[in-house]
Amino acid sequence: MTVFIGVISQKGGVGKSTLSRLLAREYAYSKWDVKIADLDISQGTSNDWKKRREMNEIQPYVAVESFRTVSQALKHAQVHDLMIFDGAPHATKASLEIAQKSDLVILPTGLSLDDLKPSVLLAHELIDSKIPDDKIVFALCRVGDRANEIEEARNYIKKAGYTTLAGSLPEKTAYRRASDLGKAISEVSYVSLRKRADEVVQDIINRIAEES
Ligand SMILES: Nc1ncnc2c1ncn2[C@@H]1O[C@H](COP(=O)(O)OP(=O)(O)O)[C@@H](O)[C@H]1O
Ligand SMILES: [Mg+2]
Repeated sequence: MTVFIGVISQKGGVGKSTLSRLLAREYAYSKWDVKIADLDISQGTSNDWKKRREMNEIQPYVAVESFRTVSQALKHAQVHDLMIFDGAPHATKASLEIAQKSDLVILPTGLSLDDLKPSVLLAHELIDSKIPDDKIVFALCRVGDRANEIEEARNYIKKAGYTTLAGSLPEKTAYRRASDLGKAISEVSYVSLRKRADEVVQDIINRIAEES
């Protein structure tokens, strides 16, 4: 059975593609047959990343394919152990389709109210559409170095009725540079930054393992 993970948000630039690639790399490293379904057809961010990854001969291989619709992606899903939906912004219908199909729906968000509010609204919309709340989890992305700011965001999400993944992904030049080279953010040379990425991924892996 194929496992499905959705990474969605209403906003662009929050870290959907970065998180999708991180996850894909870690599962691929554990010998899962994984594919990122890049649904942001206008950007093709993950698809471009795959080309850079191939050009720089980075292992393990991570499959990425662009799809216009969720149903197109699903036609190609059954041969894989895991399909990660890398969602497009401003795609309410597609985001809901992703959530309906996914075993886990991850909502990456920044720490500002400008980011948190629309993220929580999207979660509420998913609940209204009968997505169970234990399938929804927030990921704190592009965070600063103030622990209290991170905790406040966690509390905001908790008060709204949702959980947040353990850890958070800091905004770092090294992560950007890694992406530019076709690497996942767990493939940076700084041990401390690898650990930050690992903590977030490990919580996702645990949640998926609990489900199956
Ligand atoms: N933690 C981070 N540190 C530094 N740059 C980041 C981080 N997360 C994302 N970025 C950069 O921010 C931009 C948007 O991220 P991306 O993952 O493409 O977001 P989305 O898919 O939600 O639009 C990209 O240029 C990406 O490299
Ligand atoms: Mg993207």
